Amino acid sequence: VIQQPRPFDPKSVPLPRSSPIGPWPEHIPVDIEIGCGSGLHPIRYASSHPDRVLFAIEHTKERFGKFSQRLTNHPPIANLYAIHDDAVRWISHVPPTESVSRVFILYPNPYPMAKHLNRRWHAMPFMQRIIKLLKPGGKIEIATNEVWYANEARQYMQEVWKLALIEDKEIYDPSGEQFKARSHFERKYLKRGETCYNLGFSKK
Ligand SMILES: C[S@@+](CC[C@H](N)C(=O)[O-])C[C@H]1O[C@@H](n2cnc3c(N)ncnc32)[C@H](O)[C@@H]1O
Repeated sequence: VIQQPRPFDPKSVPLPRSSPIGPWPEHIPVDIEIGCGSGLHPIRYASSHPDRVLFAIEHTKERFGKFSQRLTNHPPIANLYAIHDDAVRWISHVPPTESVSRVFILYPNPYPMAKHLNRRWHAMPFMQRIIKLLKPGGKIEIATNEVWYANEARQYMQEVWKLALIEDKEIYDPSGEQFKARSHFERKYLKRGETCYNLGFSKK
């Protein structure tokens, strides 16, 4: 039985540590990536979607450092903002309500212990904030290599958060030939011959 997470109050969350981004982008779809690691997905995604803006957030110094280095070695990508911050802090305070079109959570740490349920994104009260900043029809994409995590996320996102399941895909490609891995973790899991699960949910 799923327990309804407690209400979420963004005011109880400490302010972001990163520098202010300036005015929120208007007249262009805005997407956010949570825990982007060393930045393979954000760089490819922003480069192939020049008509959108992506804020890609990573909190560890080490991974963010690799992301920054990758950006330095790359021709400038004007529509990509690399944010070195805790995604909970940044998302709690920066994006206006109903201002975001897509949120990516690719291969989050699964925290498999039962007592760590409240560290999994779909079970966190913070999910209320993510849903609030999504535009109606906006999409949350979650990828994982753990079938139990996919099952739990599918259940929470539909039953607790009342989102519609709009994508439910298995990715299995040990050759790495048909499917181009979108992120470092996706590449690692596919090469090991594991199945990955990609779920998409939309705000009704
Ligand atoms: C398993 S890695 C996946 C990285 C990348 N998305 C990929 O698929 O290769 C999870 C990432 O989420 C980051 N992360 C976890 N919690 C975070 C938070 N609250 N704010 C920002 N980043 C976070 C971790 O530091 C880590 O880099």
